[in-house]
Amino acid sequence: MRAATFQGKGHIEVRQMPDPKIVNPRDAIVEVTSTAICGSDLHLYDGVIPGVEKDDILGHEFMGRVVDVGRESTLTIGQRVVVPFTIFCGQCFQCADQRYSACDNSCPVENQQVAEKAFGYPLAGMFGYSHLTGGYAGGQAELVRVPYSDVIPQIVPDDIPDDRLLFLSDILPTGWMAALNAEIEPGDTIAVWGCGPVGLFSILSAFHQGAGRVIAIDGVPGRLAMAEGLGAEPVNFHETDILDGLMQMTGGVGPDAVIDAIGMESHGFSIDNIADRIKQTVGMGQDRAHVLRQAILACRKGGRVSVPGVYGGKADLFPLGALMQKGLQLRTGQTHVRRYTEELLDMIERDVIDPSFLISHRLPLDDAARGYRNFRDHQDDWIKVVMQP
Ligand SMILES: NC(=O)c1ccc[n+]([C@@H]2O[C@H](COP(=O)([O-])OP(=O)(O)OC[C@H]3O[C@@H](n4cnc5c(N)ncnc54)[C@H](O)[C@@H]3O)[C@@H](O)[C@H]2O)c1
Ligand SMILES: [Zn+2]
Ligand SMILES: [Zn+2]
Repeated sequence: MRAATFQGKGHIEVRQMPDPKIVNPRDAIVEVTSTAICGSDLHLYDGVIPGVEKDDILGHEFMGRVVDVGRESTLTIGQRVVVPFTIFCGQCFQCADQRYSACDNSCPVENQQVAEKAFGYPLAGMFGYSHLTGGYAGGQAELVRVPYSDVIPQIVPDDIPDDRLLFLSDILPTGWMAALNAEIEPGDTIAVWGCGPVGLFSILSAFHQGAGRVIAIDGVPGRLAMAEGLGAEPVNFHETDILDGLMQMTGGVGPDAVIDAIGMESHGFSIDNIADRIKQTVGMGQDRAHVLRQAILACRKGGRVSVPGVYGGKADLFPLGALMQKGLQLRTGQTHVRRYTEELLDMIERDVIDPSFLISHRLPLDDAARGYRNFRDHQDDWIKVVMQP
């Protein structure tokens, strides 16, 4: 089969790879019909997440049809599924409470040590996301082995096109969980940093969950325009001092909750960001935490901080004092995707949400290298890339 593979920092190549096979009774093989490139993939592409090896197959946003099943899979051949990016067993203590991205069993033993050293515990598995999260082959491929196929995949109806369903695999539930973590009360003012796919779905979700106002911060005009189209008030960080601007826009109170939908690759020329960038480049640090610092400082006293943006290491100059003294609540995590897919699928079926507005480019899988490059370098109009194998 053909698959998008990592060949080194900034180097993606579609190569011929061995077809996946059923290795465990609960496995299924899915033939991919659509797959997308995520902002999280850019962290791998840019070499800021460790544990990616040459020839690793990337991709964690995908859907398709079941073409083979192990004897304990509950799927049937021909069934159409969206596959959540977080791999979980469905049986451990964490899974029992639907904390799927904290599953204790889905990272294979041989890969557990890396994360255990860095974070104290092994992480759950993820498709196509480095050996830190299990070293599973990803979905930017013709075929994928899906473990625990009796619990992970979301079965979807045949009469809804891929474009409207694909984002159930990650970014729609991620935006939804980001808004839930902001614990929105009716009429609240929410500030969202980042108008990439995750930020845009956080904005959409915040309004669905009762926000009165959403302030959207980014530096890319095309993305800010999309946020405005969703009803948010756009603020360009290249033109406005964010802390002053937010104070003015909220009558000196500050936003009730803040969402950092950017994570470890914050842009901009603030002093802290330049220092972080140098540390990241020379391998002395992993995270450019400028946005998280800013969001904590901007949040109103007693407010909530929600962090869907991915971080990987340790951050200097973290405003611990502001977090504590203002009595803020901080919630974060890789998304427990499958916890939300039924509810969101229902909203898609009822036409309450149509996530396909996000798609800016469709490419054949063979063009994956061009997709990655443009999604990183031309953010103004490359909002979301969907590829067909
Ligand atoms: N928690 C999860 O499970 C989960 C799932 C998916 C994605 N993510 C993470 O969410 C983040 C966003 O993903 P995406 O696909 O939207 O990425 P993206 O790269 O497309 O978007 C990031 C946006 O942030 C903007 N930005 C950068 N620096 C900024 C700054 N200083 N101030 C304001 N805006 C700034 C960029 O212009 C860009 O529009 C990434 O870190 C990704 O890894 C997390
Ligand atoms: Zn993703
Ligand atoms: Zn589990």
